[in-house]
Amino acid sequence: MSNLKWGFVLTIFIFITKLHVGSCYSSSSSDPSAQQKLDRVSELPGQTFDVSFAHYAGYITVNEEGGRALFYWFFEATEDPSSKPLVLWLNGGPGCSSIAYGEAEEIGPFHIEKDGKTLYLNPYSWNQVANILFLDSPVGVGYSYSNISSDHLNNGDKRTAADSLAFLLKWFECFPQYKGRDFYITGESYAGHYVPQLSQAIVRHTRVKKEKLINLKGYMVGNALIDDHYDHLGIFQFMWSAGMISDQTYKQLNVFCDFQSFIHTSENCDKILDIASEELGEIDPYSIFTPPCNANFRISNQLLKRWHKVGHISQKYDPCTEEHSTVYFNWLEVQKALHVDEMHAPSKWVTCSEEINSNWKDSPSSVLDIYHELIHSGLRIWVFSGDTDSVLPVTSTRYSIDALGLPTVSPWRAWYDDGQVGGWTQEYKGLNFVTVRGAGHEVPLHRPKQALTLLKSFLAGTSMPTLKQVSDS
Ligand SMILES: *[C@@H]1O[C@H](CO)[C@@H](O)[C@H](O)[C@H]1NC(C)=O
Repeated sequence: MSNLKWGFVLTIFIFITKLHVGSCYSSSSSDPSAQQKLDRVSELPGQTFDVSFAHYAGYITVNEEGGRALFYWFFEATEDPSSKPLVLWLNGGPGCSSIAYGEAEEIGPFHIEKDGKTLYLNPYSWNQVANILFLDSPVGVGYSYSNISSDHLNNGDKRTAADSLAFLLKWFECFPQYKGRDFYITGESYAGHYVPQLSQAIVRHTRVKKEKLINLKGYMVGNALIDDHYDHLGIFQFMWSAGMISDQTYKQLNVFCDFQSFIHTSENCDKILDIASEELGEIDPYSIFTPPCNANFRISNQLLKRWHKVGHISQKYDPCTEEHSTVYFNWLEVQKALHVDEMHAPSKWVTCSEEINSNWKDSPSSVLDIYHELIHSGLRIWVFSGDTDSVLPVTSTRYSIDALGLPTVSPWRAWYDDGQVGGWTQEYKGLNFVTVRGAGHEVPLHRPKQALTLLKSFLAGTSMPTLKQVSDS
């Protein structure tokens, strides 16, 4: 009797955990639509409005023996998702959460108010034109975890790409309606490594399997780490020409850092970088013309009001978005709503994990070889750059693209958004380059409308709008 009772309690317990913990298993015996239902997010704390689209969150086990599971949040398109492509977005770091940045302050539908508790709908969300998938990668980032905690200390590019490929293969089993759908990978910053590496893994996997399980059409990266040498050259040149560092520091940076690894710098280079950082002062290096978060309190209200009147600074720009998401995603009710496993929830959710970042292992000094391979394989490849970022600036990206030695198809010109120059563009054979004027490191945060225009052109495979196109429409 008591045994039976315990069995009953256990069954209930398992049932309840299954309901709470989103995990879309890919065993062929189970029904994917039932699993989708489990991962479906009904409503979020602080959501005071209805939405027209379905969204899903949960884990995908990417390695059974190692007990590694990656967390995803997937948003269907606002209208007619079955006719829209699928776009994966990745943030970098390494160690930063795509949900913290991509979803909550860049391209996702749900952005977070200053109180850290209330959501608002991003009017330029990318799910207006695509189904968008956010992945916290690798293990130890955001809500993604490994049962072997030492895994957090040995992440690197190779395992990140392999686990992300395993994630996608299983994800498509859970969402079979997206199998064969036009698929694009996008991301920024250190995802400048992840995006081409994952694309390469997919292309090679497809070649071996002789079967197009994932219909990868192309990729797009912004303010991306591409090549340590060219990136360094461009950073120092940008900081010097923007008047942020001294002549002497500029020279020394070029002597001690140019040929260094980007994430594993030498002591000598670190010393000069410290001097440079001192010279920069209390600036936001990710967006050099907007106030940093901490300075917000020092700027008097008077001054802010004047700015608003003159309109020099976008009234809406909030430099402290990361702090709001830190409050929101640590909220237990939010974690429950997103099917975060209590047992594996991080003790403190962080936007970027210092532990992951400082213990990063393999990181090739360049991914230009992957560009060559994938351009050859016919993928659509776009590279964009917010031109007020000093961390991975437009100069760096230009050096890297130049090193590819691609013939020009359409020369350098301005592109337009609402009759204004949105930035500049040049089309090469196999690659499109687009700058976004006035945007920092996180282009969709600073220039959300222009970023959506960029996505539309990328997905359509058309050139960026000209002045004529804009005034005609
Ligand atoms: C991690 O371990 C727990 C407890 O043994 C288990 O329930 C869970 O499925 C494991 N996670 C993965 C990804 O294997």
